[in-house]
Amino acid sequence: MNIILIGPPGSGKGTQAKILEERHDMKQLSSGDMLRAAVSEGTEIGQKAKSFMEAGELVPDDLVVEIVTDQIEKLGDKGFILDGFPRNVHQAEVLDQMLDKRDRNIDRVLVVEVSDDMLVERIAGRYTCANCGEGYHDKFKQPETDGVCDKCGSTEFIRRPDDNPDTVRNRLDVYHEQTKPLIDYYRKQDKVRVIDGEQPIEEVTKALEQAMA
Ligand code: AP5
Ligand code: MG
Ligand code: ZN
Repeated sequence: MNIILIGPPGSGKGTQAKILEERHDMKQLSSGDMLRAAVSEGTEIGQKAKSFMEAGELVPDDLVVEIVTDQIEKLGDKGFILDGFPRNVHQAEVLDQMLDKRDRNIDRVLVVEVSDDMLVERIAGRYTCANCGEGYHDKFKQPETDGVCDKCGSTEFIRRPDDNPDTVRNRLDVYHEQTKPLIDYYRKQDKVRVIDGEQPIEEVTKALEQAMA
């Protein structure tokens, strides 16, 4: 099964994709994580993407399409969860063409809805393990032992540079203007299911799993 998670910044796409990945033998493909890795490695794509990400703007389509489709190709027949890609109608069209050529397709598009006020709180409290990338939140998801990652035991954590209030506001605007029209694109293919993303993490997972069944 191949799914797309669509949702505004902070809606829980990454959190849920990681849970689904473990439970359903699927692979999370996060365009944001791929771009952040490219920036920290200083690759050509990373150098070009950096300023767009810092401003909360979409990175140009050609750069993103290239890194995501490369990863899809590497998967073979394994199912995937796209997290953060596609993010506009053009990216969706390119993805459809690419999958079509390989006799693959998207089964479901799961839209996670969260109000803007709650998103700001989620993003302000977010931090990530510097070693394994596990996501945490100051209030909603703390490690079992204070200051120690549940997954890998690391004691180093990082916060994302684009999680400052000004950039977050712009990321929300970009979502409403450029990404939301995607929902109609996939409605026409009858693939969309809308999930209430304001519930606790486990409840959101349950709702996603029901929508996948
Ligand atoms: P990206 O990395 O995709 O960021 P985003 O879409 O802004 O989404 P986030 O990662 O911020 O949020 P999330 O939904 O994953 O939430 P999370 O699970 O962490 O993109 C970053 C940038 O890269 C873009 O601005 C753009 O520049 C570029 N980019 C990426 N893809 C692109 C593309 N396709 N085209 C062009 N440019 C692209 O959860 C947030 C917090 O809330 C966490 O702390 C978590 O613990 C907590 N939490 C999660 N769920 C719950 C819950 N149910 N209840 C309480 N707390 C919760
Ligand atoms: Mg994310
Ligand atoms: Zn870790």
